[in-house]
Amino acid sequence: MNYRHQFHAGNFADVMKHVLLVQLVAALQRKEKGFVYVDTHAGRGRYDLSTAAVGDSLARRPEWPEGIGLIWTATALPPSVATYLDLVKACDRQGGNLVAEPRFYPGSPWLVQRLLRPVDRMVLCERHEAECQALRLVSAGWPRCEVRTADGYATLRAVLPPPERRALVLLDPPYERQDEFSLTAGALAEGLRRLPGAVMAAWYPLTSRARVEEFHSAVAALQPPSAFIAELAVAGEDDGLKMRGCGLLVLNAPWQFDATAEAALTSLASALAQTPRASGRASWLVAPR
Ligand SMILES: C[S@@+](CC[C@H](N)C(=O)[O-])C[C@H]1O[C@@H](n2cnc3c(N)ncnc32)[C@H](O)[C@@H]1O
Repeated sequence: MNYRHQFHAGNFADVMKHVLLVQLVAALQRKEKGFVYVDTHAGRGRYDLSTAAVGDSLARRPEWPEGIGLIWTATALPPSVATYLDLVKACDRQGGNLVAEPRFYPGSPWLVQRLLRPVDRMVLCERHEAECQALRLVSAGWPRCEVRTADGYATLRAVLPPPERRALVLLDPPYERQDEFSLTAGALAEGLRRLPGAVMAAWYPLTSRARVEEFHSAVAALQPPSAFIAELAVAGEDDGLKMRGCGLLVLNAPWQFDATAEAALTSLASALAQTPRASGRASWLVAPR
């Protein structure tokens, strides 16, 4: 397994995913009853952006300047993006950054633990030993947090349905494997079978439109109660970027999440554009009945 999120941390895809994740947590917390947050591909929890340019053997171009770097000092932001930026800055301060540009960037576990209430809990799953070790260090002392060195898909089967009967699941695989889209669709199917009302968010890259459409069709065929698609393209299909954008497919998206996501995507498409053909898209694949 070659994937290291370290090199991608804070890129446009992380910004989009994390803005929307924070809003999903906020939406679940509109109800008093607690929920379990399950992060099937948790990563190391926090990233030092100053090492993002150092590859295993060769120097790499860091990706964060075209992500968090572009909104670090922005002011006119919609509330969802401003809330996310406040959290990223809190993580950066906690890490002890003393320079003006961002240095410590939060992973999904860090962001969610910051928001958890005493009635909520989290299960973090990371298969890569070294990443999981780093995650254990970052999360030491976090209350109601369980870390598993294990396969995220298998863990999902083990933890659903939870005693709380409420769950927010983030599926954020690296898409290194050819079958990652079908594994993700399979995990969504399994999640729906075990807890039909679970809010499940699956991240995916916009690299090959054909595969994404296949993924959307597979999800629609599951006949979920609802499925919402948020996509951010920082470039057009013909602009030559390896990854021109990304999406987050959300099953059982909470009330008003569609409007919040749309406002966030409009703002991010303009702030993070790499070519004039950048765009945001928010639509229902399966509208709520
Ligand atoms: C995109 S990164 C996760 C980033 C993290 N969710 C965040 O937003 O900060 C994907 C992670 O999944 C891990 N991984 C790959 N295959 C896995 C599997 N089958 N189960 C659990 N973790 C896996 C990788 O080691 C990597 O750390």
